[in-house]
Amino acid sequence: AKRPIIIQGPMPIEAENFAKRLENVKEEKSGNFVFYKGKLDNYPVIVAKTGKGMENTAAATAIAIEKYNPIAIINQGTSGGHDPSLNVFDIVLGKRTVNLGSLKTPHLEANEGIHPTSWIPMDLMASEGSAGEDPNAEKARYFEGDEELLAAAHAVKDTYTKGKVVEGTIGSADVWNNEVDRIKWFHENFGTSVEEMEGASAAQISKAYDVAFLGIRVLSNNKTNGGKYDPTTAAANQEYVYEVVKQYIAMK
Ligand code: 5AD
Repeated sequence: AKRPIIIQGPMPIEAENFAKRLENVKEEKSGNFVFYKGKLDNYPVIVAKTGKGMENTAAATAIAIEKYNPIAIINQGTSGGHDPSLNVFDIVLGKRTVNLGSLKTPHLEANEGIHPTSWIPMDLMASEGSAGEDPNAEKARYFEGDEELLAAAHAVKDTYTKGKVVEGTIGSADVWNNEVDRIKWFHENFGTSVEEMEGASAAQISKAYDVAFLGIRVLSNNKTNGGKYDPTTAAANQEYVYEVVKQYIAMK
């Protein structure tokens, strides 16, 4: 049997459009997670509605890998811009994905305050020892997007007409940042193009099982240039990801 491609979407508006486009859909549930198993161009494709956030996504990814043995996982949905040159409806292909919640604070005594801009990125995968004590862990961990999935995404770029499609860095954490200076700090120190709450979690678990992974995120808002939140971006992104999946299947 062919190994399926899994398309993850956190919210109903980020998963159900894609699920509706599959043929012969069978719905399966595990915990809160809904898996829509179907076919696209006669190839097995599973849409996973994961729920929002890093924890839901990690669990939904591990369960999907154990249950369905996928050949590839695409995590897609909306995001907030960190790069002022990106506008609402532009799409970022995650050449890299990074956890923005993985941080170590330098030592400060009582009453010396809280200084977020001095916080240091922390790599929980650097070693099996304590990340708090290991100087080698004082760096961000970047998960690389799969080359073949990136090639498929580039090949169908022109089918997307609502904005541009660019490669970039997707940052994830269970945080919604609205402080423009903090957003700028992440953009400068982690190289982020956009932020969301799932990509790095799915990337980390995919890597743990050696499954090809790519994050594909549309900007639904961008604090750095006044881009107002538009939830219809979620459907636009799924239309583009549908073309990416078709292309990937054609390349298989
Ligand atoms: N910051 C964080 N998450 C965002 N999302 C969209 N825009 C942002 C943003 N600016 C996505 C997350 C999560 C939900 C809140 O929307 O991935 O699923």
